[in-house]
Amino acid sequence: MDVPARTPTPAPVRLRGLGREPRARYRLLVQGRKKRHRRARPENPTLDDAARVRDFYAHPVGRDVIDKMFHLQGRSNRWVDNPIVGGMRLRTLDRLVRLFTGHELVPLVVDLANSEPHAPDPGEGQPEPTWWKEAVFYQVYPRSFADSDGDGVGDVGGILEHLDHLADLGVDCVWLSPIYDSPNEDGGYDVRDYRAVMAEMGTLDQVDALIAACHARGMRIILDLVVNHTSHEHEWFQRALADPDGPHGAYYFLLPADPEHPDQPPNNWESAFTGPAWRWIPEIERWVLHVFAPGQPDLNWENPRVRDEVVEVCRWWFDRGIDGFRMDVINFISKPPDLPDGHELIGDLLQVAGVEHYFYGPRLHEYLRELRERAFERPGSPPRVMVGETPGIGVETGRLLTGADRGELDLVFSFDHLESGSHSRFEDYRYDLEWYKRYLIDYQSRLGSNDWMTLFFENHDNPRMISKVNPEPEHRVALGKLLGTLQLTMRGTPFIHQGQELAAVNQPFTGIGDLQDVEAHRRFRALVDEGASEEDAWAQVLTSTRDHGRVPLRWDASPGGGFTTGTPWLVVHPDPGFSVAEQAADPDSVLQHYRRLIALRRRHRALRMGDVTFVDPERVGFFGWFRTWGTQRIRVELNLTDEPLTLPDHDPDADAGLLLGSHTVVRSGTLAPYESRVYRWPAVQQGLGAPEPQR
Ligand code: NOJ
Ligand code: MG
Repeated sequence: MDVPARTPTPAPVRLRGLGREPRARYRLLVQGRKKRHRRARPENPTLDDAARVRDFYAHPVGRDVIDKMFHLQGRSNRWVDNPIVGGMRLRTLDRLVRLFTGHELVPLVVDLANSEPHAPDPGEGQPEPTWWKEAVFYQVYPRSFADSDGDGVGDVGGILEHLDHLADLGVDCVWLSPIYDSPNEDGGYDVRDYRAVMAEMGTLDQVDALIAACHARGMRIILDLVVNHTSHEHEWFQRALADPDGPHGAYYFLLPADPEHPDQPPNNWESAFTGPAWRWIPEIERWVLHVFAPGQPDLNWENPRVRDEVVEVCRWWFDRGIDGFRMDVINFISKPPDLPDGHELIGDLLQVAGVEHYFYGPRLHEYLRELRERAFERPGSPPRVMVGETPGIGVETGRLLTGADRGELDLVFSFDHLESGSHSRFEDYRYDLEWYKRYLIDYQSRLGSNDWMTLFFENHDNPRMISKVNPEPEHRVALGKLLGTLQLTMRGTPFIHQGQELAAVNQPFTGIGDLQDVEAHRRFRALVDEGASEEDAWAQVLTSTRDHGRVPLRWDASPGGGFTTGTPWLVVHPDPGFSVAEQAADPDSVLQHYRRLIALRRRHRALRMGDVTFVDPERVGFFGWFRTWGTQRIRVELNLTDEPLTLPDHDPDADAGLLLGSHTVVRSGTLAPYESRVYRWPAVQQGLGAPEPQR
């Protein structure tokens, strides 16, 4: 790769080339908190067909929609800045879209934009410190963490036995994927009983012990709240089946057939796991809505009884001492009562029909506020975190869901960054870190003191990031360290997915029989049914399967990885050198690098709460920034490429300030492929030594 020469001295943030005007941002943070005033938020005028594209883009939903469209097409949103495009009237755009696609799309998205005229209020001063802004989260996928009883399935006992791995890593808060009683059609995201523990996972007493053990180590713990849907084996659904017109029938979307079209479901919505989102239940002669697997019927949040039940479930767990919830697909909970058909073109683009009607549904904000007030923030309750998993949510709608002035969620997982360019998870391609750099700079540039973002590359629904960026084994360690450095020194709350600290990579699964994931099986079948060869279907499923992120953790170098004494529920391939025991014994391992990074983050508030200023953002292949907190200043430099990157203007005096680097041999003025470095700045700066208390 050609590496252009670097400009001397840290440049201020420049956003040229990213499609928007440079704006006043990153006010330098001053110690001490400014009083927050609730200000009237600017309201955008209602859009009609005489409005222009740039007016639409000024609406938060409009902006997210346009950004998403450009993203899906792999094009830059800077087109909106073009006077001809930006000045185009919506009615002209509508005509053009109809002409080229045959679809009436513009009125639909304009309605959506008009439903949200308020721009998010960025706030003033500095963000209020909260524990979850300063914490490092770690996602445990319990089925694959550690098996304590030899049945091949990870369990709560296993987590208890290995909790010190997380404490040694320096984790502040553990997020447990579902441990509830479940028939396990979708890895426990199909809950049969919210107040019971899945038999193979252990007992409620063990969960209580785990909560206490986390707290005893100074860690917090949150659970996964899966309340967009239940399992079809949940008691509520069973009662609904017994009496569809009774109170529990109204917990779900149970609809009779249209006498004119008895074979047609109530609308054209599709399941995220392929196929229609409706299942016919002959015993009760009703259709039931499931936007995920057939065994995951959607709850109808329009029904106040459903919302009461959710409040009760949350309170029940809070009484047991947990510190919050990660809330599964929480942006899907509000569906328009008339359940309109999904737009065909959007369905094609997103590969799932109907989503536009419920990813940002009409009563979403109201439901979240109500839940926060009734369950999370009761008088005298400790500060708890609400982390929303929010597929489809962009930067502006994310800010509307999390603004400190909004009383809704604290954090969202927005997923737009998990695939670069116009690529989807189902394609085999190389993820472009330069693209991510631009995405992140843009995202950060839009955040004010009311906003805070999550930082993550992996979870149990995605393949491993190292494999997406560069699967060459020679780069694995450097890349693992680079991703960790980026995540743990950037402004925002990092979520590490189990195995990431060991530089976990995708697995060499050999056939569909190796996989357990419901999505992979349904997709494989659907592709073959549509006429794909088994080989092609397998190639797509192998690249995308969520099982890459669910494979049992390797604790030692033994053949089963020390995960279980039995047969693991998901095949474990040998991975010499990358188990916890081996990496703990190697001072230069990725695990040790993560430990040092987290220790550094704990030591320096600049890394947790500090302002971020990007350095030389135009420079391809280089990613650098400062984090500043009062007099503390930390500089981070990354080489995003697989070639050496020279830093011609590098000041050799700066080397003395190196706090942490990914490589043992450090060449002044040159970053090795994927090398990452963290410096004290300037090198002689005083006052960085004292550890600071964390909230
Ligand atoms: C998101 C979860 O992360 C995923 O694993 C699950 O399949 C769906 N929500 C449905 O609950
Ligand atoms: Mg077990």
